[in-house]
Amino acid sequence: MNNFSFDHLPVDPLPAVLAGMPKAELHIHIEGSLEPELIFSLAQRNGIAIPYTSVEELRKAYAFSNLQSFLDIYYAGASVLIREQDFYDMAWAYLLKAKADNVLHTEIFFDPQTHTARGVSMEKVVKGLHRACADARTQLGVSATLILCFLRHLSEKDALETLEQAMPYRDLFIGVGLDSSEVGHPPEKFARVFARCRELGLHIVAHAGEEGPPAYVWSALDVLHAERIDHGVQSVKDAALMARLAKDRIPLTVCPLSNLKLCVFPTLAQHNLGALLDAGLVATVNSDDPAYFGGYVNDNYLQTFAATRLTAQHAYTLARNSFEASFADASQKRRFIDAVDAYFDAI
Ligand code: HPA
Ligand code: ZN
Repeated sequence: MNNFSFDHLPVDPLPAVLAGMPKAELHIHIEGSLEPELIFSLAQRNGIAIPYTSVEELRKAYAFSNLQSFLDIYYAGASVLIREQDFYDMAWAYLLKAKADNVLHTEIFFDPQTHTARGVSMEKVVKGLHRACADARTQLGVSATLILCFLRHLSEKDALETLEQAMPYRDLFIGVGLDSSEVGHPPEKFARVFARCRELGLHIVAHAGEEGPPAYVWSALDVLHAERIDHGVQSVKDAALMARLAKDRIPLTVCPLSNLKLCVFPTLAQHNLGALLDAGLVATVNSDDPAYFGGYVNDNYLQTFAATRLTAQHAYTLARNSFEASFADASQKRRFIDAVDAYFDAI
């Protein structure tokens, strides 16, 4: 493996390297990519009233103190999504941003319960999102797949019913995840529904250790059998857990700007991404809810590197990790990782 240093150059080329490097995005909630402009135009198209008079007023409301303060606004924003075309338009807007950020592969979370609870059918949600993913492959050359997330503030029974509703579209998503309000809703609350998902051959991921304790990361691993942990930044509080994550190469999908905006870390300079990487964990960089947290995946890379001591070597590791941690098949992974190596060999 090459060692990269730009210390001898008068201008720091690292931002351009970060922006241009091939990457995967593995932690993006599609409802969190809904920009205020699109919220307003969909509200108008669908005749839905929203309690804000302008895009600027809505954007001003994006001042969060913790996860719950964000989720309240995030669920309200999603209420403008009604028709299949709305889901397509939302996903397509994100996929264009992903393409611009040199994302070659993305695994997109969606929250069906946010929509089915309002009377929008599972069919409209999944088909609209999937059509955008299919168009991304043919029109943009971006590989895009879907992961269905269960809302953990709701019951396991509700999650089981949601899984049942999604069964006609089983081939249109590759896995399941667990999101929404973490504290008080540990992974083990969903043991049965995740066991059923494993029987169905679905990939398993779960948000854990965003605001919640290391115990939630342990139970995501040992009870749900999560293959990846979303966020997981609280794992540094538990040395045995860090050793387990490193030994089993369980990836963490880290979202620095999200952590900053939801006050998980007081500043980006204090973010522990570097510590996770230096401990040998398969950490990755992702945007989470880019319309709400001030940036897409390249903004996450650029701002985090600008604020911390991360180097070109870390950039290479993060790009490789993003593909290694993905659910792309082995030959696709090989091609992606070869593209990362070729990119870094050429700089
Ligand atoms: N955490 C939990 N649930 C979520 C998030 C998050 O960061 N974003 C959207 N739903
Ligand atoms: Zn998330």
